[in-house]
Amino acid sequence: MSDLLISAQDLRKQFRSGNEPVTVFDGLSLDLGRGESLALIGRSGSGKSTLLNVLCGLEWPDAGSLRILGESFEAQSRPLGRAETRWGELRRRRVGVVFQEANLMPALSLLDNVRLRSRLASRDEAPCRDWLERLGIGDLADRYPDQVSGGQRQRAALAMVFAMQPDLILADEPTGSLDRRTAEDVAEVLFNLQSRHGCGLILATHDTELADRCDRTLDLGHRQAR
Ligand SMILES: Nc1ncnc2c1ncn2[C@@H]1O[C@H](COP(=O)(O)OP(=O)(O)OP(=O)(O)O)[C@@H](O)[C@H]1O
Ligand SMILES: [Mg+2]
Repeated sequence: MSDLLISAQDLRKQFRSGNEPVTVFDGLSLDLGRGESLALIGRSGSGKSTLLNVLCGLEWPDAGSLRILGESFEAQSRPLGRAETRWGELRRRRVGVVFQEANLMPALSLLDNVRLRSRLASRDEAPCRDWLERLGIGDLADRYPDQVSGGQRQRAALAMVFAMQPDLILADEPTGSLDRRTAEDVAEVLFNLQSRHGCGLILATHDTELADRCDRTLDLGHRQAR
């Protein structure tokens, strides 16, 4: 069996601006192996979030094919409903997604948000509080998302992904709203988890220090892998 977690071929994604199609990327191919990390970098608007959304099935590519954790998707996958069910199953159990804006359930405490995520992935709930502790927000476990700062919500969103023990983590600016010191602490937890569990990691970031910690970098502004 292939050790590739992701194999993406010739992806194209366009949005419409009025009647005009605007191409975000075209002919984009990338592979990610087990235990490998890749940083997506590039100026604002270069397509980092769009690519992450395509890699987790929340945006549909206009062309190309994608093989992810053994599931194959084509731009023309039909019927769409069945492909969406397969994407939903991947995101529930195997692909942990951290969005640029942390998306927590507002009616649940931080701890209950983490527990819910863990339960949906059929994981043990016992370590959930521990994840919040390790991310430095254990004392906020019983607060609701609107009672904490943006950076604290972002860390809670990471705790949710860690608690599901995914095979693949897709993280959009995971340290974007954190000060340097906290960002380094959070990166430490993230890379520790990644090397311990051997999961794949793709993160989008403007932080060059964070990008340098990844095995590879893909600059969407210039589209050169190194
Ligand atoms: N739903 C949409 N409809 C139309 N255009 C969109 C949509 N989503 C994104 N875009 C456009 O696609 C391009 C890529 O956006 P994207 O959010 O992927 O950039 P990014 O690299 O993540 O930027 P940032 O660093 O600011 O987060 C931008 O020009 C953006 O305006
Ligand atoms: Mg973005």
